[in-house]
Amino acid sequence: MSASYIAFEGPEGSGKSTQAARLADALSAILTRETGGTAIGARLREILHDTTVHDMSPRAEALIAAADRAQHLDEIVRPALAAGRTVVSDRSIYSTLAYQGFGRELDVDELRTINAWATGGTWPDLVVLIDPPDDVIAQRMSERELDRFEAAGAAFHDRVIAGFRTMAAGDPDRWIVVEGLGSIDEVGDDIAARLAQRGVRIEGGRR
Ligand code: TMP
Repeated sequence: MSASYIAFEGPEGSGKSTQAARLADALSAILTRETGGTAIGARLREILHDTTVHDMSPRAEALIAAADRAQHLDEIVRPALAAGRTVVSDRSIYSTLAYQGFGRELDVDELRTINAWATGGTWPDLVVLIDPPDDVIAQRMSERELDRFEAAGAAFHDRVIAGFRTMAAGDPDRWIVVEGLGSIDEVGDDIAARLAQRGVRIEGGRR
């Protein structure tokens, strides 16, 4: 199989953005992100992350993320795939299922339906979940300024990470799970080796 739409998922502080950029570079792929991968998405992201917002309805939150995603798929992902490019995305539909579904406790099947419509049915072929031990994440989070999601509390984040693990375990053909411990290069090599097992090969250069 040759995957062309690869998403990175994981909690804040997992190092997924660094690894997404590293892989995109190695694959000469389009690097993009949700939320905020488009100009419209950047405006939606500002609302989603605004720490002065305290009363956003979880359904509104889910729909704003879905609107970001609809724009992202139409403007960036589908045209790139149609042009034969590989797309590496920092987050995807699975963040909505984890954060708004498992985290905010909205119905996961309803979120799948809404997002199937928003995405026009284009879902990542492969998902790399970077899942460091909980104490490592807690330590990294204690060292940074928190946005609205990061400040949502331990119980919320426990549900989110449990959600990621549940989805990965339930769909092992699509998901690759790595611990993300070690240097950037060590983690990157681990991801490349796991992707190679799924037929995604990095030609020449570093793996
Ligand atoms: P990031 O900068 O780590 O990508 O952070 C994005 C935040 O937005 C993160 O806390 C997860 C959250 N988020 C959702 O809650 N739902 C979504 O659908 C997406 C894409 C992100």
